[in-house]
Amino acid sequence: MGRIATALVVIAATITLTALVRAAPENVLKKLVPVEATKDLELPAGRVNSEQVEQGRYLVALLGCASCHTDGALVGKPDPAMTLAGSRVGIAYSSPMVNEFPGAVYPGNLTPHRETGLGTWSEDDIVDMLRSGRNRHGRQTLSIMPWTSYGQLSDADARAIARYLKSLPPVEHRVPARVMPGQPTRTPLVHVGLYHRP
Ligand code: HEC
Repeated sequence: MGRIATALVVIAATITLTALVRAAPENVLKKLVPVEATKDLELPAGRVNSEQVEQGRYLVALLGCASCHTDGALVGKPDPAMTLAGSRVGIAYSSPMVNEFPGAVYPGNLTPHRETGLGTWSEDDIVDMLRSGRNRHGRQTLSIMPWTSYGQLSDADARAIARYLKSLPPVEHRVPARVMPGQPTRTPLVHVGLYHRP
């Protein structure tokens, strides 16, 4: 290889490396801290005393719904008054290596509060959501909400979960709306590594 060609390769490599270093948002990565997982969340009993509701409560515990849908649980500090009533801690859905401010989603309030929870959802709406990830307005939920696995629930199990959720005492608690990548969030965020293309 001639000298000029070698020099050109070195220059090109330097430019590429610099571009990569510039693209990594160092300030965001420095702020990433590991958090303790939440264990042993006590789920409220349903207001209806039936075997089906108790089965729903058992499945909700087994499938870990409260570990995301409880305020503070994502950062290891669950608020017992907000169990299953939604999280004001967001989950990032784009990589901090790509967007300095990742997009954020907030696990919603699953108690039957009319304005801030699932009060206007029917049991069928909840069953459909668990199976297909589509909410009652037809919007596709991101797979951070693990509907791709929950799609395998039997009819009876999905129905039991819906009945348990509808039997919970309603808790008034509105979670923030989804934040698009590139916009700063006003809330803490956790990263679970399941990133979607923005
Ligand atoms: C890993 C975290 C996680 C777990 C576990 C989880 N969810 Fe979710 N869920 C989410 C997120 C995040 C959203 C919002 C997604 C979006 O807006 O795209 C959501 C949305 C929902 C919604 C729609 C709420 C609304 O107001 O639109 C329902 C219903 C729901 N989840 C029920 C459940 C149930 C029932 C379980 C357990 C069987 C469960 N979720 C487990 C993260 C989770």
